[in-house]
Amino acid sequence: MQSASKVLDRVLVLEMVRVTEAAAIAASSLVGRGDEKAADAAAVEAMREALNDLYMDGTVVIGEGERDEAPMLFIGEKVGSAPGKGPKIDIALDPLEGTTITAKAGPNALAVLAIAEEGCLLNAPDVYMDKLAVGPGYPAGVIDLDKSPTENIAAIAAAKGVQPNEVIACVLDRPRHEKLIAELRGIGCGVVLIGDGDVAGVIATTDPDTTIDVYMGSGGAPEGVLACAALRCVGGQFKGRLLFRNDDERARARKWGIDDLDKVYDLDELASGDCIFAATGVTDGSLLEGVKRKGKVMTTESVVMRSSSGTVRWVRGEHRIG
Ligand code: FBP
Repeated sequence: MQSASKVLDRVLVLEMVRVTEAAAIAASSLVGRGDEKAADAAAVEAMREALNDLYMDGTVVIGEGERDEAPMLFIGEKVGSAPGKGPKIDIALDPLEGTTITAKAGPNALAVLAIAEEGCLLNAPDVYMDKLAVGPGYPAGVIDLDKSPTENIAAIAAAKGVQPNEVIACVLDRPRHEKLIAELRGIGCGVVLIGDGDVAGVIATTDPDTTIDVYMGSGGAPEGVLACAALRCVGGQFKGRLLFRNDDERARARKWGIDDLDKVYDLDELASGDCIFAATGVTDGSLLEGVKRKGKVMTTESVVMRSSSGTVRWVRGEHRIG
């Protein structure tokens, strides 16, 4: 049997784009239709079918939920065409990151997939995670979840050689972030509020064109792992701490082998080894254009990146239909 790393190298990198393209195209027919569930279901089904065509012995470690709550792409589901024979691959996926965005035809909905060798992606429970992320180029340790937002902004500003009021932060627009947003605005910081989609929010810190320097605030823990897979490929720093609202969530974390519930995770603890991250735009966004249909041709824009080589490939697809 070939080593997992070789197969990742030769086959899976570009094949992954087919998988995210399939999910994005399936969800695209439901953009703006006000039906989050239908859009998600279409993306899930298409992604699962495409994943099952890949030669691998894959296990979903971050998926649509636990077995009893998700019929497809549940955590632990085996995918791939070569169970027991192909390379053992762990998979983190979100067939439709931004279900509400898609339903409302907003920006930044993505189909997202990350793969890594077995054991390299944290089996994160579906709870919130406090997140702090910056793109590449900062000294190690510039961000610290145990420090206040003001202190983090001051450290980022000092590293950039600018004033704190020249730093731009991206934050999910949620009532739970009122205090954070007030503190950031209180020091003159620019705050870009996003309605949903914090995988794109974190990745935006790596692209100078977005002008976003830092991502702050809480969002889904699974989305945190997916964002880390991307940061591993393009550089950046990430700190994350799981947040629990009740004992049931704590029990869920313990079930997945997490004992230290207060731990602050570093980028490499959430996604390690040789990771590959792929995404296709469902709606237009800061990272990717969404799916477009012109007559009998659908166009997609995707990105696929690999941590071991640092290669980032932008893929424009033209898909003939009908
Ligand atoms: P869904 O696509 O599952 O709806 O997730 C969208 C999202 O905005 C994520 O990007 C983010 O991590 C999470 O929801 C935030 O959760 P909440 O909407 O509960 O604040």
